[in-house]
Amino acid sequence: MAKRKKIVIANWKMNLTVPESTVLIEKLKKEISGNLQLEVAVCPSFVDIYSASAELKNSKISIGAQNVAEEEKGSYTGEVSVLALKGFVKYILVGHSERRNIFGENDKVVAGKAETVVRHDMTPVICVGETLHEREDKLSKIVVLSQLEASCKQLTAEEISESIIAYEPVWAIGTGHVCLPEEAEKIAADIRGLIKSLYGEKAARLVHILYGGSVTAKTAKDFRYAKNIDGLLVGGASLDHHEFAAIVKNFSSEKKPKKGRK
Ligand code: PGA
Repeated sequence: MAKRKKIVIANWKMNLTVPESTVLIEKLKKEISGNLQLEVAVCPSFVDIYSASAELKNSKISIGAQNVAEEEKGSYTGEVSVLALKGFVKYILVGHSERRNIFGENDKVVAGKAETVVRHDMTPVICVGETLHEREDKLSKIVVLSQLEASCKQLTAEEISESIIAYEPVWAIGTGHVCLPEEAEKIAADIRGLIKSLYGEKAARLVHILYGGSVTAKTAKDFRYAKNIDGLLVGGASLDHHEFAAIVKNFSSEKKPKKGRK
């Protein structure tokens, strides 16, 4: 029976130049090596993907892209095609809240991007999450599940099984306010429940669910024991090689936290 693996993905966003990411990659390669129990990937900017893929060849670290065009080819000035990414990346983030909120991507666009990614044999990381207002209005579950249903619309059960869903509450992204693991686990369980009702038990069992939003080395270990959370999507803290390596280590650690720990 196929089992879900643990995954930690770094989202470098628009923070590094090519020389800066080369330096970071060199440091990460030294820190993240050996017998890893989990999958690690970094998402550099588009201009850096080509050199990063050469630098990370034969390493334990895979590459992801932060975005992709919905269309494969044509007159789409400034966009990057899935065909250009093929062979260089394993994962592609779709529907990150910054894409949704700053660049106006709606669920329909996200669904189209997710479909484009899977049809080219790469893994979409479909991001969903509620805003602070929606959370305060107790709408987290409704918002997340409706985003998810609409964003996965064009995928089959088999394709969903091989996809990743990232629960990233918008209020937690880049704010330092990490979501409590119990709260994130509850939403992750709801996500798995929705996948089960839409795509069946097997898809629900196999789909990977990540948490993202202000994860640090200190908080990473608390998510390790959440039954429905298979990994982490890390922004700010992934720009520091010690911190990111510690996140990977802490998330993969088998040791149970002491009872009564807050
Ligand atoms: P953060 O970003 O870790 O800086 O909050 C997470 C993300 O946007 O994926």
